[in-house]
Amino acid sequence: MATVQTAIQTGRAPASSGSDAGVSAMALQGVTVRFGGITALDDVSFEVGRGEVLGLIGPNGAGKTTLFDVVSGVRTPDDGRVMLDGADVTNLSAVARARRGMRRTFQRVQTFGWLTVEDNVLTALEWRGGGGGILADLVSFPTRRRHERARRVRVAEVLELCGLSTVAKDPAGALPIGLARMVEVARAIVDEPKVLLLDEPTSGLEVGEADRLGDLIQAIRKDEACAVVLVEHDVGFVMRQCDRIVVLDLGRVLAAGTPPEIQANAEVRTAYLGEG
Ligand SMILES: Nc1ncnc2c1ncn2[C@@H]1O[C@H](COP(=O)(O)OP(=O)(O)OP(=O)(O)O)[C@@H](O)[C@H]1O
Ligand SMILES: [Mg+2]
Repeated sequence: MATVQTAIQTGRAPASSGSDAGVSAMALQGVTVRFGGITALDDVSFEVGRGEVLGLIGPNGAGKTTLFDVVSGVRTPDDGRVMLDGADVTNLSAVARARRGMRRTFQRVQTFGWLTVEDNVLTALEWRGGGGGILADLVSFPTRRRHERARRVRVAEVLELCGLSTVAKDPAGALPIGLARMVEVARAIVDEPKVLLLDEPTSGLEVGEADRLGDLIQAIRKDEACAVVLVEHDVGFVMRQCDRIVVLDLGRVLAAGTPPEIQANAEVRTAYLGEG
């Protein structure tokens, strides 16, 4: 796989710079996952830089969701490592990774249907808490009220960004699929993630909603130097939004490169784009 490795290493440099600019936001090193006789991921390695949008494409069953499970900490790989900001997080729980700034959305929407849209997004900030328990609550009541107000302001801001302001008080379970997906996205971005994993975010979205999502992805990568990994079947959307694309096929990295490089890759056209 020398050509693939070369393509990965020569991929576009991260958009941001800093004292530790050489450290990628997220990296996979030789990740392998087996389900009985099936090798869902086979020695997969690639990196995502800060502020970079990386597309992950491949046919059904290629291993894309499994890869997100490994990166987010839902599944432990049989082999290989997951690095976050230069640190090995392979043995950290999903919660511990979330505390380090990793967020994801799911291929099947997972909102709290009985909560309002606003509260769904607010719960994504609640884990921070105020610390100190009931006593601290009593002693520092005004501070808490201020925090609470700041959170509500942040939630309102994100709802606006996601086109959800008009349904803020509606129960999330009553929303059409496109808006429900946007609630998931709002939950994932409200706490200013460092690494954002989006699993088929445009599935079920109207064209206008997908455009809004595209703008949102570009804004958070630029303004917050967030690394975004996008699993997506809409190839046009991937080509427009991503700096680099990794193509998975049967658990292996088939190719990696810029959108034009991927579009010109004969192997990819045959295996995934249905040509040749
Ligand atoms: N929990 C599981 N137990 C057994 N096999 C699994 C499990 N999860 C995934 N697989 C298998 O691993 C392979 C990769 O599946 P995965 O869901 O990661 O693919 P995907 O690229 O996300 O596909 P899709 O485009 O359909 O969402 C498939 O062969 C799938 O059947
Ligand atoms: Mg999947």
